[in-house]
Amino acid sequence: MCGIFGIVYATDRPLGDLLLDAGRRLAYRGYDSVGCATVDAKGTIDLRKGVGRVDEVAERFALGEMAGRRGIVQLRWATFGAPSHENAQPHLDSDGDLVGAHNGNIVNNTVLRERFIAEGMTVRGTNDGESCVHAVERYVDQGLGMVEAIRRAAGDLQGDYAFVIASRDEAGSDGKQPLHAIKNGSGLVVGITPEGTCVSSDLPSILPLTDRILRVEDGEMVTLWPDRVELRRVVDGTLVSREPERFTEGMDAAEKGGYAHFMEKEIHEQPKVAAELLHWLDASPHVEPFLEAIRSARRVYLVGCGTSHHACLVGAAYFNRLAGIPAVPVLAPQFTETLAATLAPEDAVVLVSQSGETKDVLNALRASRPSGARILGVLNVLGSALMHRSDHYLPLACGYEISVPATKTYLNQVLLFLYLADRLRRSGTPIDWERVPELISETLESVDAPARRVAELLDPLAEMYFLGYGMTLGVALEGALKLKEISYAHCEGMLSSEFKHGPLSAVYPEYPVLFVAAPRDAEMIVNHVNEVACRGGRSIVLATEDPLLRRTVDEYVVLPDAGQELTALIAVIPLQLASYYMSLKRGYDPDFPRNLSKTLTVD
Ligand code: AGP
Repeated sequence: MCGIFGIVYATDRPLGDLLLDAGRRLAYRGYDSVGCATVDAKGTIDLRKGVGRVDEVAERFALGEMAGRRGIVQLRWATFGAPSHENAQPHLDSDGDLVGAHNGNIVNNTVLRERFIAEGMTVRGTNDGESCVHAVERYVDQGLGMVEAIRRAAGDLQGDYAFVIASRDEAGSDGKQPLHAIKNGSGLVVGITPEGTCVSSDLPSILPLTDRILRVEDGEMVTLWPDRVELRRVVDGTLVSREPERFTEGMDAAEKGGYAHFMEKEIHEQPKVAAELLHWLDASPHVEPFLEAIRSARRVYLVGCGTSHHACLVGAAYFNRLAGIPAVPVLAPQFTETLAATLAPEDAVVLVSQSGETKDVLNALRASRPSGARILGVLNVLGSALMHRSDHYLPLACGYEISVPATKTYLNQVLLFLYLADRLRRSGTPIDWERVPELISETLESVDAPARRVAELLDPLAEMYFLGYGMTLGVALEGALKLKEISYAHCEGMLSSEFKHGPLSAVYPEYPVLFVAAPRDAEMIVNHVNEVACRGGRSIVLATEDPLLRRTVDEYVVLPDAGQELTALIAVIPLQLASYYMSLKRGYDPDFPRNLSKTLTVD
């Protein structure tokens, strides 16, 4: 949530297009408002910002024309303060000498604002990013230099955040002027280019400029000069020596590559990322310790939020049914409040998060630590907090997922669980892994037209149900989430056998209910379809060809013949596509659904 990027050069130059490009690449983190600030050699600050997406704001305020030797861009996902001009970032201090922006959440923002106002500072909005700037202003006004002022300010700010700040007057003995950034719980990476240095919440904005990356750790601050960076510990100001790494992963992920949207591209990347994950798992020494922790655990909890939780539902079914391992899927905040209290050292907590930064998941991790239970991470973003804080972790190997709706990372989460359960399996026929990427390709091809048809059918409707059973419960929930996330229709997912316990009363003639059926559950699903059909409801089924189902349902989306477990993997694909097509039909941008952000680092 929220994205920041800052860059420093030795001389004035056009910065607008560069900042806009960085902003577009961070847009998945927030798009309620956008702002750019530049500072030129004379110390003149040019600040332009407004509500809306990057290109709208860029056009309104001619952001592309901005110039200077230092620049900051911020993309906001609103938490403190409604999206407005005042709350858009970057922010100035009272006198317009400092300019800065943050991502994260300053939990004591209300108290700080009251204090700043009482002390006579000019507080223009209610946003917590503004409090970061005033917190530094307070110490600069007491005569401290920027580094000391930022370190002291950090002591006043509570919460997880990263922020970047510049002083119009500050210069080194050589006349060069710096930018400062600090990391406390939110992402921050530094890039070193041949002509300048930059800092960002995340790599997509940096990698087009350089592959020399310096990772900043929590509790560190960095001073960026055009030709060098200084890394310090916030607690005592001591300099930290750390060499930049060469980042070798390509940045194709940040380009749409001929597709209309990142979501469409990422859906179609699924065969490739599945193959890459399987290849990685077969070769990696990380897998055995992870497996051993699960194998030897008394109980295994699979903990995540949103889409990652839905993958946990399918994963838990795999562990229980294939490997006889008692695995329990739990939403992260609920885990923190309930089951974490009963953890013992013999338990394993598998924390699942695409971003590896979701606050609810990190809270669950923190709540689990004192028990001595084994902490296992499953994540896509390498270098994330979850990766660092887990005892063992496995990556999802998807490359960057830019679109806010998770697609390829969900599929690889489910695939990873199936792979682990298959390795731990006690009975049944092992999965033919060689076939899996091809099966995903085949599914993408065969369900595309039916998915368009499902979107046509559902588009006129304001509400609907998606139901699953056993292994496909998570799939139905995920399909329902995807649909509501990007088409804004109300779609509820639930266990198909629960439908008769109340929601069935919603059914009227032509009321749409979609069922996801794995082969062994077809007979049970037929019963559930009949309960809807005899009340006039319209049934849509996703399943492999089954004569009984065929005779019972109104619409049939045929899945390739894949067996019980792999059906629960591929059945999500028509739902991803149907959601995508329905979003387009309704005129929305599926990559950036309203009110959302890719990474939720707030409670
Ligand atoms: C999925 O489309 C959503 N973007 C959302 O539910 C997401 O899965 C959830 O916020 C958890 O994110 P994480 O996997 O990064 O922890």
